[in-house]
Amino acid sequence: MNEHEIIAQLALDYRALEIGGSLILHADCFEWLSRISENSIHAIVTDPPYGVKEYEFDQIEKRSNGNGGIWRIPPSFDGSTRAPLPRFTALDRKERDSLRRFFVEWAKVVFHALRPGGHVFIASNAFLSQLVFSALVDGGLEFRGELIRLVRTLRGGDRPKNAEQEFPGVSSMPRGCYEPWGILRKPLLPGMKLSDCLREFQTGGLRRISDDKPFSDVILSERTPQSERDIADHPSLKPQSFLRQVVYAALPLGEGIIADPFMGSGSTVAAAEAVGLHSIGVERYSDYYETSRMAIPKLAALKLRLEKEWLQLPLLN
Ligand SMILES: C[S@@+](CC[C@H](N)C(=O)[O-])C[C@H]1O[C@@H](n2cnc3c(N)ncnc32)[C@H](O)[C@@H]1O
Repeated sequence: MNEHEIIAQLALDYRALEIGGSLILHADCFEWLSRISENSIHAIVTDPPYGVKEYEFDQIEKRSNGNGGIWRIPPSFDGSTRAPLPRFTALDRKERDSLRRFFVEWAKVVFHALRPGGHVFIASNAFLSQLVFSALVDGGLEFRGELIRLVRTLRGGDRPKNAEQEFPGVSSMPRGCYEPWGILRKPLLPGMKLSDCLREFQTGGLRRISDDKPFSDVILSERTPQSERDIADHPSLKPQSFLRQVVYAALPLGEGIIADPFMGSGSTVAAAEAVGLHSIGVERYSDYYETSRMAIPKLAALKLRLEKEWLQLPLLN
């Protein structure tokens, strides 16, 4: 079976659409990951919802009404108003517990679907990464490090609330200048060497940028450009310049299937398409699924300024 046929089979009975060499599905990823055959996916690159409230319908409603909820409006600067950001620090103990359970359970279904040696790249934030990564390990995945996306997130750096004048020289948290992505892996089979795993499962390692340059764990990134936001209206859209490097690294031999179980508007699938890889995106909400149908071909077609350079040079000088 070739990758097209394998991908078509992975649609199961869900609403699905093929876009180039990829597939998008309207499904709940917990259900889909647990229903597909064991060891079907070679890698996962994803940006999860931080599941407790962020994407619950009432929160989305409050956000679009401008009524607050867990969303705060950061100050505008450079003359442009920023999109609302979720206030992660608002999570209490119980919510942190549900978040932990969410990621333990998710890791278990990922473990089932992923081939031995398959990598997981998962977006997080500096405030929650420790909790998320350790939950994923509790669910059976192996922690392999972090990928640091250098980007000014606009989180943190604020003076003490309602006492800004009194303590002008203090901020409550550092200003966020990076986004940590967990790098995890389904463990190799017992006694298996990396070379064996590459031969048998096409997984286990990361694809090099070039002969003399391995993939590195810091990427000098950017905020998602307006040109991409105009294509895909999702509050958590990740930039193509970053994602194309990650999906490229995720398949060590450039073969196999990458899944994004929390697809949103399809930026990971678009990145895979742009670099000629097969991928499957899964999205639970119909509106975002519909957005992704339109957005993926357009995002994938974007020519990036750094496209040629990142294949030759690490972006970090
Ligand atoms: C942080 S967003 C990802 C956005 C994506 N990075 C992009 O560029 O558009 C997470 C997405 O996961 C979706 N989601 C949440 N729970 C899900 C589930 N159980 N199965 C599938 N999708 C889910 C949400 O609707 C949301 O669109």
